[in-house]
Amino acid sequence: MHPLLNVATIAARSAGNQIMQHLENIERLNIEQKGMNDFVSEVDKEAEQIIIQTIQKYYPDHAIMAEESGVSGSKKSDFEWIIDPLDGTTNFLHKYPQFSVSIAIKEKGKLMHGVVYDPIRDEMFSATRGDGARLNNYRIRVSEQKTLEHALLGTGFPYHDFSYIDSYMSSLKSFMQSTAGIRRAGSAALDLAYVACGRIDGFWEFNLKPWDIAAGALIAQEAGAFATDFKGGNNYLLSGNILVANPKLYKHMVQTITKTIPEELRN
Ligand code: IPD
Ligand code: CA
Ligand code: CA
Repeated sequence: MHPLLNVATIAARSAGNQIMQHLENIERLNIEQKGMNDFVSEVDKEAEQIIIQTIQKYYPDHAIMAEESGVSGSKKSDFEWIIDPLDGTTNFLHKYPQFSVSIAIKEKGKLMHGVVYDPIRDEMFSATRGDGARLNNYRIRVSEQKTLEHALLGTGFPYHDFSYIDSYMSSLKSFMQSTAGIRRAGSAALDLAYVACGRIDGFWEFNLKPWDIAAGALIAQEAGAFATDFKGGNNYLLSGNILVANPKLYKHMVQTITKTIPEELRN
C-alpha cells in the first residue's frame, strides 16, 4: 500500500473508532446548527482533529482542507488532504447506521488517493490512482448493469439550498419511472463507494462539497466507474454536481440528466 494511503487509512480508522464511541451517548453531545438542516456535533470536530493530528505526525508540511476547521498547513505543499470527518452527520445524530469518514489526497492538484471508512460495518474503501479500488484490501469493481430498467440508483436530496429543487425533482421523477429503485442513504461518500463495489449501479447529486466527493469519486473511478459533472466534464469537485455510474449505465443516466436539468445548472 502506498505510504500516503496507509496514513489516510490509519487516520480514518482512528476517527471512525472515536465516532463509534459516541454513538451511545448522542443525547449528551453538544450540537450546533451551521445553517438550515446543517448540524455539527463535537464528534465531527473531535474526529477531524484526530485525522489532522495523524496527518501532521507523518507529514507536518502538507496542506489540509477540512470541513469543520477549514484550510491549514503549508500553502506551498504539493500535497493537499481533503477531509470530511463525518459524512452523514444527520444520520449519526439519529443513530441511523449510515455514515463515514472520507479522506482524499491531491498531489500537484490531482486526486491520487482516497479512503472512505464505514465504522458501523468496519468497511474500508480505498484507492490509489492507477492501482484499482479495494474494500478491506480486496479488489472491487463496478456492476455490469446495462439498463436503467434493472438499475438501482443512489442519490441525495436537496436539504438546505432549494433553488434547484425543481430541476432535481424532474431528474428524480424521470429516474423513478425508469429504474428498479432509488435510495437516499445520507452519506454521499459511501454512496460513491457503493457504486465502486456494485451495491448500487449509479449515483447523482447536486451541490456537494469537495470533501463529500473527492475520495469516493476516485474510488469509484478506480473501480471502473465514469465520474463527471452533469455536462460530462471534470468540474464536479468545483461545481459539486456529480454523476457516477458504471460505463454502460452512465450513458443512459447522462441522457436523463441532459433531458431534465436545464443547461445553466448542468456544470
Ligand atoms: C452530507 C451527506 C449527504 C449529502 C449532503 C452532505 P454531511 O454531508 O453527504 O448524503 O446529501 O449533501 O452535505 O453534512 O453529513 O457531512
Ligand atoms: Ca459531507
Ligand atoms: Ca461532515
